[in-house]
Amino acid sequence: MHIRCIQCNTTLELHERALACPRCGDLLEIVVRVDRSPEELKRVWRERRMSNAACDRSGVWRFREFLPGDYQEVVTMAEGNTPLVRARRSGAWAGLQNLQYKHLGWNPTACFKDLGMTVGVTEAKHVGAQIVACASTGNTSGSLAAYAAYAGIAARVYLPAGMVSLAKVAQSIDYGAELVEIQGNFDQALSTMLADNDPRIYFLNSINPFRIEGQKTVIFEMMEQLEWQPPDYVVCPGGNLGNSSAFGKALEELKAHGLIEKVPRMIVVQAAGANPLYQTWRDGLTELKPVADPQTVATAIRIGNPKSWKKALRVLRFTNGMVLDVTDEEIGQAKEMIGRDGIGCEPASATTLAGLRKLVAQKKIEPEATVVAILTGHVLKDPDYILKRHRPAAASKAGVAKS
Ligand code: F0G
Repeated sequence: MHIRCIQCNTTLELHERALACPRCGDLLEIVVRVDRSPEELKRVWRERRMSNAACDRSGVWRFREFLPGDYQEVVTMAEGNTPLVRARRSGAWAGLQNLQYKHLGWNPTACFKDLGMTVGVTEAKHVGAQIVACASTGNTSGSLAAYAAYAGIAARVYLPAGMVSLAKVAQSIDYGAELVEIQGNFDQALSTMLADNDPRIYFLNSINPFRIEGQKTVIFEMMEQLEWQPPDYVVCPGGNLGNSSAFGKALEELKAHGLIEKVPRMIVVQAAGANPLYQTWRDGLTELKPVADPQTVATAIRIGNPKSWKKALRVLRFTNGMVLDVTDEEIGQAKEMIGRDGIGCEPASATTLAGLRKLVAQKKIEPEATVVAILTGHVLKDPDYILKRHRPAAASKAGVAKS
């Protein structure tokens, strides 16, 4: 395995510490080639589910043939292994008969970032990093803080001051991270962090290609849970676009290695006030059109200048995908429906159901299509949002019940 630039194909050694191509500055990716047959891989992955070894119990490292290797020890907390849950009333509300959620909020730090962090922090340890750092809207920071603490490495997190859910800030503090609050939004926090050229720091935002490798296993696990029968559509929220890029990479690799025949269409959903990918796609542009002052109640995806946009566009082309945006009110309604199903999620995750409802109404998706929506964060990640939106109504209902 080696690292390659997505633009000019320059190659680097696998463990070279680089976040951008030294020649053209574009994003990097890890090139994977596996020589085992699909039948053998499927059998080995299934057998590992019976094992108690730490790297077999991980829903990420179980698929290690497709992950960077040569590690003496991996930093894992049995992440992954998240179920597919049938969307009952919420599916019907969106007009769909066959909708399932893959709930990545049911991970060690309650969001999907753990899947990338187990690989990212393992690599950081391997290259001898003394400090790991990220900029974050709150979830990457919690996950980084937890995995760094578990690995015995110091963590520093750059947060946009006043724009992160308190539950997420508290989580990073609890895991012992150093907080750097930036007067500005996520995009500015990320630029500030990248300008810090302390050589002891190892950066772990999703421009780090090792993060993407871990996150791509969501699709491996999902396909296994579906007995390798791909759904028609996979839907996920879009922020900095690392996750959509990771899912697309998984689909490319699974198809190239004969593990799946059909590729599902990827649908990326953004919040209307933070929708640079949607605008770029809608207008058929070849360069990203950033949003200068992104605004949305879904603070996790309040991002105007997503770094992985080129990879995301490639995924949309490869899967014949779609991008759309949804308003904050549509997000709120969808979140309520997911909650009423007893499943729950944070606001950013609810963009998926809101987007699906819109696409069914516009007849862009057929009601009987098979669909998996990726729920990225747990309901308890953003209690402030719930209380602001619902507390007065919930209190009056309780009053009625008592009298
Ligand atoms: N959903 C949740 C709950 C998130 O926290 C994020 C991103 C996304 C979706 C979007 O994923 O960036 O890969 O497109 N959160 C980052 C963070 C930015 O700092 O926690 P993406």
